Amino acid sequence: MVREWDPRNASSAEIASLLDTLNAVLAADLPQDPPWRESSLREYLSEVMPGERRISWIAQAQPAGDGIPGVILGHVNVLLLGGIGVLEVLVHPAARRTGLGRELVRVAARRVWDEGFQSIGVEVVGDTPAVAFYESLGFTREYVETRSVLDLNAVDWPALAEMATGVSAGYHLEFCPGGPPDELIEAYARAKAEVRDVDDGELRPSSYDPERLRDSLTTLHRRGMKPYIVLALHEQTGEVAGLTEVVVPAQHPTRADQYDTIVVRDHRGYGIDRAIKARMLLELRSAEPELVEVQTWNAQANEAMLKVNAELGYRPDREWCEYGVDVAELVHHLDPPR
Ligand SMILES: CC(C)(COP(=O)(O)OP(=O)(O)OC[C@H]1O[C@@H](n2cnc3c(N)ncnc32)[C@H](O)[C@@H]1OP(=O)(O)O)[C@@H](O)C(=O)NCCC(=O)NCCS
Repeated sequence: MVREWDPRNASSAEIASLLDTLNAVLAADLPQDPPWRESSLREYLSEVMPGERRISWIAQAQPAGDGIPGVILGHVNVLLLGGIGVLEVLVHPAARRTGLGRELVRVAARRVWDEGFQSIGVEVVGDTPAVAFYESLGFTREYVETRSVLDLNAVDWPALAEMATGVSAGYHLEFCPGGPPDELIEAYARAKAEVRDVDDGELRPSSYDPERLRDSLTTLHRRGMKPYIVLALHEQTGEVAGLTEVVVPAQHPTRADQYDTIVVRDHRGYGIDRAIKARMLLELRSAEPELVEVQTWNAQANEAMLKVNAELGYRPDREWCEYGVDVAELVHHLDPPR
């Protein structure tokens, strides 16, 4: 029932069926999240960064007697990057608690093991069945963030316009739809490298060197995810003093994802964080008229950023956790030697 599946050459009917299942999962587990659309879904599932691989499997219902293939009831994919396999599993709400989720993880874990990887990580959304599921499989919680959502209809736009200009003299802000201009890529990568040591989750790695950064921007575009950036430039040195990144995915263009926001250490205390985020929202309002929400993830310890987000109007939504497990232990647990 579970078979390896390549989204690049899957039929349109399979892509549509997977979308239906994904939306049934969202309606059951995250009813406030917008449903996904089919735009660039195949590319979203297929495209990876150079050096990474994603392997997928599906579980299909029995075909109806008329030759029409069965619908997709479950899906798993594992992204192999660095030394870790990052897992994503979903099971249609109508097919849950029958052991399908466990079977999907078993098949993927076995492959991760065969490929020589040592650990598996997964993002688990708080307050959903996935928490009990992964804990039952021996995964442990390694990192917790809070997701917050900003409703653009509730934003105080005049106050925001004021925040966007509240940066100290000596800096100017630049809006870069599509990504940073090529002449700023190196300065941009330097700013990102500055925070590589901060306690950040493992599953959403940032890109710190210019080549990797270019690759990651190209991959985003290929996956149908449009990046927008606001930079704070230090006029005296030309350095990137701060940056904020928002991505609008073709799959859910009404809700954008906030990626990194960084203010380089020497430039903290000048109002850059608040100003770049406010400017971003003002720009998105005209660049993406369909947009109604922005979601962001923050470590609970990051009080400064949580405070600025609250001023902008973000409301905490739910916990978002990273869980991990040793592959050998998982394989042993799911496929005990006879
Ligand atoms: C997590 C998920 C994959 C589980 O799939 P499933 O097929 O129902 O899981 P299984 O039937 O294999 O369950 C295995 C074990 O996990 C645990 N478990 C699973 N769901 C559970 C629940 N709702 N409550 C308590 N324990 C649960 C149980 O121990 C279960 O064993 P049991 O049924 O013998 O008691 C499924 O709920 C799902 O797709 N969730 C959405 C995941 C996701 O991606 N969310 C984020 C985007 S919306």
